[in-house]
Amino acid sequence: MPFKNDLILRAARGEQVERTPVWLMRQAGRVLPEYRAVRSKMGGFKELVETPEFACEVTIQPVDILNVDAAIIFSDILVIPEAMGLPYQMIETKGPWFEKTITNSDDIKQLKIATADDLHYVMDAIKLTKKGLNNRVPLIGFAGAPWTIFAYMIEGSGSKTFSKAKKFLYTQPLLSHQLLQKITDSTINYLKGQIRAGADMLQLFDSWAGVLSPKQYTEFALKYIAQICDSITEVPITVFAKDAHYVRKEMGALNCNSIGLDWTMDIKESRELIGNNKTLQGNMDPCLLYADFNTIRSETKKMLLQFGPQRHIANLGHGLYPDLEKDKVKCFVETIQEFRF
Ligand code: CP3
Repeated sequence: MPFKNDLILRAARGEQVERTPVWLMRQAGRVLPEYRAVRSKMGGFKELVETPEFACEVTIQPVDILNVDAAIIFSDILVIPEAMGLPYQMIETKGPWFEKTITNSDDIKQLKIATADDLHYVMDAIKLTKKGLNNRVPLIGFAGAPWTIFAYMIEGSGSKTFSKAKKFLYTQPLLSHQLLQKITDSTINYLKGQIRAGADMLQLFDSWAGVLSPKQYTEFALKYIAQICDSITEVPITVFAKDAHYVRKEMGALNCNSIGLDWTMDIKESRELIGNNKTLQGNMDPCLLYADFNTIRSETKKMLLQFGPQRHIANLGHGLYPDLEKDKVKCFVETIQEFRF
């Protein structure tokens, strides 16, 4: 059965669209009171991620409530380290925390290469969500990019500088490559599983791309992203490397359909660097959504004009913030959906 709305898939593949499609990073959770209601019934964030019925419910909420042009499966990038042997906890108001971290060669040897079966709860959530969506809009699957996952596995939590993880790259380059390869192999298994379960499109999140130098990013990050892009041939894939200004040209050479831009990246300059055969995704500053409705409308239209009518998927330059108002978020989405060039 065809999709009722497949704008995002067509935009990703570079086919003609009647209007620009829009979805929002972190649209599931964060701003919706309806999410909080489901969340409060559960023991915590992890239980929600691991219970397919509830993960499905909060994945579909933004499609019903915000009317976005795609759903993204409710999960987290940290399920991969856990499936490889490093369990995480999500500590209220603080964020992720790992009891065990990677410090030496033995730690890396002990890690398993994750398979899709190890993450059966995500596969089940995808299958249920596909049924629930009933082809209204496509479903996006995702994973963390290897460098960002590596950073959490070494640090054991978030960090301002990720200096422990960077120290590992400088002092243990061979071990770093071993670990990055294991993460990459696990991620490919995981993403292929998501495709088999029904994901229509994929996104890689490299949230901590910005802490590396261009040389390190090319050697320790881009190389593994390229392996993933080369192995995903079934569905469109987007690479979002936050703050990775310095490798936009190289990103243009990846075997992916779209590149996510954050709000600090100039749209015209990015298009010139990346070239014309990629769809660009982004890139409104999420803080614009604190402004009044008229400002949101006018700034959003300016953004659309800068990207132009084709090869653009509208989004924010990073995820929604938890204290944004739902009506302001809706205003952003509606402005995009009502706009015609
Ligand atoms: O986009 C979506 O709506 C789908 C769900 C999704 C979540 N996390 C749910 C979540 C996605 C795509 C992610 C990706 C993710 N997770 C990233 C990459 C994107 C980015 O923001 O850069 C990263 C770095 C993580 C790791 C992570 N998960 C952190 C640092 C935190 C705590 C702080 C925070 O951002 O809220 C999480 C928790 C998390 N993941 C929540 C949600 C809805 C909040 C948990 C809650 O209290 O309900």
